[in-house]
Amino acid sequence: MVRVCFVCLGNICRSPTAEAAMRKLLKAEGLSEQVEVESAGTGDWHVGESPDRRARDAGKRRGLDLRGRARRFQPEDFESFDYVVAMDKANLHALQRLAEHERHSGKIDLFRNYDPESPPNADVPDPYYGGPKGFETVIDICESACRGLLDSIRTEHRL
Ligand code: 4NP
Repeated sequence: MVRVCFVCLGNICRSPTAEAAMRKLLKAEGLSEQVEVESAGTGDWHVGESPDRRARDAGKRRGLDLRGRARRFQPEDFESFDYVVAMDKANLHALQRLAEHERHSGKIDLFRNYDPESPPNADVPDPYYGGPKGFETVIDICESACRGLLDSIRTEHRL
């Protein structure tokens, strides 16, 4: 089993959207038994909460099922995931600070760098303080980057 954890700040908007987009893609590709996805946040303000209603509603319109409860990424998580995927550079740096070994920091990547159509080192913009359009944009970005991430996983794990 290949394990992927998507990480944003609050674990209520972007990373649950990426998780749902990846789960949908894996199902379509028949890889749900080979790749497992979760999400977490680097902050703890929303721990225990469901995904943001705006993200859930936008996801539902696009066939994405956002589920789970927000949790904070723990240093121990580096042991149990193969890919720790940051939604933006601030979260990438927060994860790099948490990583104690090179074997852990080597698992961290910026999500959009898996997307060949994305500019280098681009962020998934935080939709939390913006309008509904921001959540649509997050879905577009996540769907595109998930395809790139899955291509990398397929190559690296011969799936
Ligand atoms: P997320 O969005 O990191 O995509 O889950 C945010 C959620 C909450 C906050 C910021 C971003 N906040 O400041 O509470």
